[in-house]
Amino acid sequence: MTSISVLSVVSEIYPLIKTGGLADVAGSLPAFLKPEGIAITSLVPGYRAVLSKIGDAVPIHVFPDLFGGPARLLRAQVGPLDLLVIDAPHLYDRPGTPYLDPEGENWPDNAIRFAALSAVGAAIGLGEVAAYCPDVVHAHDWQAGLTPAYLHYRGNGRTRAATIMTIHNLAFQGQYPPDLLPVLGLPPEAMAVNGVEYYGGIGYLKAGLQFADRITTVSPKYAEEICTLEGGMGLGSLLRDRIGDLQGILNGIDESVWDPSEDKLIAAKFDRLHIKPRRINKLSLQRRVGLREDTDVLLMGLISRLTWQKGIDILLDALPLILGTGAQVAIIGQGERAMERAVGDAVTAYPGRVGCVIGYDEELGHLLQAGADALLLPSRFEPCGLTQLYALRYGCVPVVARVGGLSDTVIDANEMARAEGIGTGIQFHPPTVEMLESAALRVAALWKKPALWRRIQRNGMRTDVSWRRSARLYAELYRELTGAQRAVEPEALRA
Ligand code: ADP
Ligand code: GLC
Repeated sequence: MTSISVLSVVSEIYPLIKTGGLADVAGSLPAFLKPEGIAITSLVPGYRAVLSKIGDAVPIHVFPDLFGGPARLLRAQVGPLDLLVIDAPHLYDRPGTPYLDPEGENWPDNAIRFAALSAVGAAIGLGEVAAYCPDVVHAHDWQAGLTPAYLHYRGNGRTRAATIMTIHNLAFQGQYPPDLLPVLGLPPEAMAVNGVEYYGGIGYLKAGLQFADRITTVSPKYAEEICTLEGGMGLGSLLRDRIGDLQGILNGIDESVWDPSEDKLIAAKFDRLHIKPRRINKLSLQRRVGLREDTDVLLMGLISRLTWQKGIDILLDALPLILGTGAQVAIIGQGERAMERAVGDAVTAYPGRVGCVIGYDEELGHLLQAGADALLLPSRFEPCGLTQLYALRYGCVPVVARVGGLSDTVIDANEMARAEGIGTGIQFHPPTVEMLESAALRVAALWKKPALWRRIQRNGMRTDVSWRRSARLYAELYRELTGAQRAVEPEALRA
């Protein structure tokens, strides 16, 4: 099998830097593609956290002026990950997260910081970096969205890598004012409907969707949803136009990082045949989040960014009924300040019955999956979702809104599924307070039937949540595209 080289252009990657599921996906998929003959190299910005973790990196290229300062391209290896890191201190050497300053505000120059990521990705895709020339450039989310556009406008008829744009979340689109166009180094004609123009401004994700050879998103159901008026969030008609190039490929997880029988971050290891030690994790979790320690009470958990997408307000409104069933609720998350405060208020209102940790804590994330009995996911939309996959693997029963990837990955334990012995969780629809409440009542009723509960847990733990199947689909896509590697079409033909 000939090897295909793919440059993955991405703004975060686990274990170097993570704010959400994108990092998990970018960090875990490459290892599963290697056996398929696909060699992934990930291009990431040289944030402080990244530079501090890459050790002996080798400079392979210099960009004398990358949007206002010099930049070096460093080649590094971290575990199984082959990396190219953009060392550009004027853009990335800062405190805070990849996107926000320490006060939680977007960095004012994010448009430039991620245009730079995309411009470097495109330069590599055009063969301008002698040391490395990929067959495919795979851009993730709006931060890498300009990559296919730069490849198009800077190509001038040269051979270029094939391109894929993957949507992890259509809600974040990277919209910027039109006067940025010359600063971005894009030609005036790019300001057109079939260019980067988007509602009078410049749309980074739109640009990627316009120019990528193929588009993927992270679950089949979300691929359908984003082609609708509501789910399309302004990009639905473009996506409908390109439906033949759009594919939903379900995310998988790294089962070596998320393995309850080997997990060093939890209090007690367990597996499908020895579930009992979960109790120790439950007690430890209750202690950590300030809940009354009691293994007999049903403990429902939530771990998430605290945002509208995730339906945190739905959960908070449903709390009186949920707690009325006798259950406890543990919340781990950070995000919008008002939501963080609302979660804190709930803890004050229901001491010992609602517990929380506001912040980002990877270790606690593992303990929650290992100790909670059920995981609540009242998301209004969810492109894929990874926490329900971790939950399945950890015997934590997912209770999910039937949207996007949640709908594709959890089998509702209704009577029919139970008769077949295949239910793995609870689904509810639509994501409203009433529907979450009735789901909570179902969960509480199931919890009272230990044998049935155990069966649902075991079904979940047996579910294949690995990358194996999806890695093959990505590999097929890369193969298909490289068979069709092409020269940049003249502008006239595209218009
Ligand atoms: P999204 O990318 O939309 O945030 P995903 O479910 O795909 O949602 O991925 C979220 C990832 O971030 C998971 O790995 C989850 O465990 C992790 N996570 C979310 N919030 C926290 C938190 N407060 N502390 C630790 N990990 C978190
Ligand atoms: C996004 C989505 C989430 C998905 C993740 C990784 O952040 O919100 O549903 O799992 O990307 O693809």
